[in-house]
Amino acid sequence: MRTHTLIMPLDMHLHLRDGAMLEAIAPLSSYSFSGAVIMPNLVPPITNKQSLEAYKSRIRSATNRRINDDDSDEFELMDMDYFEPLMTLFYQNYSREFLEDICDDIFAIKLYPAGITTNSDGGVESFEIEQMRETLEAMSELSIPLLVHGESDGFVMDREAEFMSIYEMLALSFPDLKIVMEHITTKAAVQMLDRYKNLYATITVHHLLITLDDVAGAALQPHLFCKPIAKRPEDREALREVALNAHPKVMFGSDSAPHPQHAKESCGCAAGVFTAPIALQLLCEIFDSEDKLDNLQAFVSDNAQSIHGLCPEFKEVTLKQEPFKVPESYSLVVPMYANRSIAWSIEDVL
Ligand code: NCD
Ligand code: ZN
Repeated sequence: MRTHTLIMPLDMHLHLRDGAMLEAIAPLSSYSFSGAVIMPNLVPPITNKQSLEAYKSRIRSATNRRINDDDSDEFELMDMDYFEPLMTLFYQNYSREFLEDICDDIFAIKLYPAGITTNSDGGVESFEIEQMRETLEAMSELSIPLLVHGESDGFVMDREAEFMSIYEMLALSFPDLKIVMEHITTKAAVQMLDRYKNLYATITVHHLLITLDDVAGAALQPHLFCKPIAKRPEDREALREVALNAHPKVMFGSDSAPHPQHAKESCGCAAGVFTAPIALQLLCEIFDSEDKLDNLQAFVSDNAQSIHGLCPEFKEVTLKQEPFKVPESYSLVVPMYANRSIAWSIEDVL
């Protein structure tokens, strides 16, 4: 049987939520990833040291447990934590003094335009450069990366493309600031990568697989609905081109964003696709189908390590080409492709 081993996979964009949801889903990421960049869009969002540290310790206690091999509901306590939560703050116009004090405790700061997605009401109202200058200059000097949810408030299919001028303005005004275009979904965003040296990107697994047709082309699929929405076939092609060919500026970030089943299967469906427990299996299937398995290591870990100078916790994940049936649900969350079969499964984690 064919196997493929990934060393220290990293998820560079992950929603772990809080409370019972955190307890239920965090072990699914800490089982197969060495670390993840944790999104700050809780209610209220993470905007100070106290809430950051408290959240990190709740994540640590949730991830110090792992799933038993026999898939039973019981958790087996591990002696050591092999998963690093890379913490982020929710962007506001912070003072330099505040950032100097917190910079050793955070990996990055995540910027959301106000109201553009789940729990982003306290985000940026206007991209007035002078209002943001103190914060962005300090971030640049303190080497704090800026992670951006890049969507305008325009027509839903055009929101990401319309945001490109803001990326350009930020990249040119702060040439030493590391800017990550999060979960890119368009050819327009892919083209920005080679235009500005300080622009990088994360790409999800679902945007490598689906287009708007899969979401709304036939019966509406709430579990594939997310922000940014999946786009056109040519956009997906551009994303696959850079991910599968190990473009050095793109990193895997799942944007796995769980919502309870009732919030997805309802009028006013919440945005977010839950992929954390199936991401590596799906990536193996995609890369293998294009004969690019050798490039997967760069996409799921090596690029992020070089871009950010990370030294992840050691973990070796071996996958095998044996079908994996995606469960109907994980606790109260329905994953992408529930009940479908993926060609690759996880064999072992060391
Ligand atoms: C995310 C969430 O649910 O927190 N939803 C989503 O559709 N991706 C927020 C986000 O990353 O936009
Ligand atoms: Zn997200």
